[in-house]
Amino acid sequence: MTESELLEKTWFYRFPLPSGAVTPSYHGGELDAVHTTRAAMMRQAIDAHFGGRPIASAIDIASHQGWFSWQLVENGVQQVTGIEPRSEHVADARAVIAAMGLSNRIRFEQCDVHDSSPERFGRHPLVLCFGLIYHLENPIGALRRARALTAPGGLCLIETQVVPGMHGFVDWGNHRFVRPLKGSFGIIDETGETHGPEASTTGICLVPSVEALVWIMQRIGFSRVEVLPVPEDGYEQLVHHKRVMVAGWV
Ligand SMILES: C[S@@+](CC[C@H](N)C(=O)[O-])C[C@H]1O[C@@H](n2cnc3c(N)ncnc32)[C@H](O)[C@@H]1O
Repeated sequence: MTESELLEKTWFYRFPLPSGAVTPSYHGGELDAVHTTRAAMMRQAIDAHFGGRPIASAIDIASHQGWFSWQLVENGVQQVTGIEPRSEHVADARAVIAAMGLSNRIRFEQCDVHDSSPERFGRHPLVLCFGLIYHLENPIGALRRARALTAPGGLCLIETQVVPGMHGFVDWGNHRFVRPLKGSFGIIDETGETHGPEASTTGICLVPSVEALVWIMQRIGFSRVEVLPVPEDGYEQLVHHKRVMVAGWV
């Protein structure tokens, strides 16, 4: 695609093109802050973990049009693979990254997170999974995939909307066997929106509470799990804990 063809379309993200033009967004800039706040949080986490050392490779799960894949290169990652099931996003991502002259650093593969594996994509020092978990009917399976793609010593960043958590105890078959809740999931209906560019592909969404997310990440093999700090002037959902970015170390 030529630059003028890219500029005729509207995009989920603003990509700077070689001429200095920037891709127009289809949300009128309303969502720019969610992207820029997450990019700032990602940069802070990368700096803290890698301390300015070069990062050989990364995986961007649910790469959409490739904006975070590009952000990874901007943050010193040598080779990025974006994984995305929607063919139109894969095509857009390849086109815009080619126009930016970065096709030798970033590639995109059409793939559902549940079909990803270390055998197909390798293990990497850095794995991103942004904006995906709350669109899935099998979020724990997806978290296991993200963990499996993270190399020993590596960092995995999970960013997701969360639901308010339930706390308390349940009788586990009998009043003498009482178990504490470790977190909870909310069910959200996207069954009428599976055609949407940012939506679930199946429509049934299980959204974790932050306690559930942290506990699950600890149980599936991350050695350390931390909810990352949010800049005070960041996107409102992150500031008000409606979404979180969680770091998992392998
Ligand atoms: C809200 S967008 C987030 C895109 C990007 N990661 C971000 O945070 O800006 C959700 C993305 O997840 C993708 N997606 C939906 N179901 C998926 C699945 N089962 N496996 C991988 N990606 C999926 C969508 O196509 C879309 O690109």
